[in-house]
Amino acid sequence: MREKLLQIAEEAEKAVEGAETVEAVEELRIKYLGKKGILTQVLRGMGALPPAERPLVGKLANEIKLRLENELVVRATKLKEREKAQKLATERIDVTLPGTCPFLGSLHPLTTVRAEIEDIFLGLGFQIVEGPEIELDYYNFEALNFPKDHPARDMQDTFFISDEVLLRTHTSPVQVRTFEKTAPNVPVKIIAPGKVYREDDDATHSPMFNQVEGFAVDTHIAFGDLKGVLDSFVRQMYGDQTRMRFRPSFFPFTEPSAEVDISCVICGGRGCRVCSHTGWLEILGAGMIHPRVLEVSGYDSEKFSGFAFGMGIERIAMLKYGVDNIRLFFDNDLRFLNQF
Ligand code: PHE
Repeated sequence: MREKLLQIAEEAEKAVEGAETVEAVEELRIKYLGKKGILTQVLRGMGALPPAERPLVGKLANEIKLRLENELVVRATKLKEREKAQKLATERIDVTLPGTCPFLGSLHPLTTVRAEIEDIFLGLGFQIVEGPEIELDYYNFEALNFPKDHPARDMQDTFFISDEVLLRTHTSPVQVRTFEKTAPNVPVKIIAPGKVYREDDDATHSPMFNQVEGFAVDTHIAFGDLKGVLDSFVRQMYGDQTRMRFRPSFFPFTEPSAEVDISCVICGGRGCRVCSHTGWLEILGAGMIHPRVLEVSGYDSEKFSGFAFGMGIERIAMLKYGVDNIRLFFDNDLRFLNQF
């Protein structure tokens, strides 16, 4: 057994010395020390030896194994260095070649517009809050002063999940959810961006779209505050030359209510196809929060008042980029998305 071991060792060492490539060294390692390697087999056969001989032969076998492992590493390192030196001596790299530019993705235009809107309102001291897309009838309608069977519900083209559960049709429920937590404390200055759902589907409407709700409650909030905040928003979003006008409107949860238009961003107000030759574009709904909405969520409407507004992100983005079909935002067509 001793002789056999010594013979294997000698043969293996010679082979390692003679190996000329890193791969050849690896092959030798497998041949001798691998799972089915020659040395491994011998070590396994030790059980057959008389017990007295085992310690001595075992010691020798282990020494040989360690030495061989070491020699394999030394040889491989040497060969690697030799290969590297050869490469350095022969290979020439042209550092003046232009690099390959990796494909860069970009933010979806709706993400960009949402972030812009958020930035503007953060700058005005608003905080960002989100609410659930699956909503209770109570928050989407009831607490917003839409009684059951009120005709104003018709405008909201609602996807119902059950009698009391629905996909929210607007971000206004976040008003009530917020007030329940903040009342009776003020001031409250919040924007609430997120997805909303309405059964509505044409070039400018999609069954899923995004809104940003904004609202403020404090002791002396007046209609002028709403105007001031929206004026600042419109200027920052569309430029200082943009004009804004309020038209009377109706929402159950605001009183008075208004529809807000900006001067057409395409024609500057002269009249074109985009603004249907009116010179104006409707961008959002707004108003003073109805006292009943404040009361159901815990604010004394004699002491506190507030304003609210809600805008569609797709609409803002369509006007900003001159996109004429809302579908384009959701088709995932790279020819469209690459333009942003
Ligand atoms: N929630 C209204 C809508 O989606 C918009 C709105 C919000 C109007 C806040 C007034 C105040 O139609």
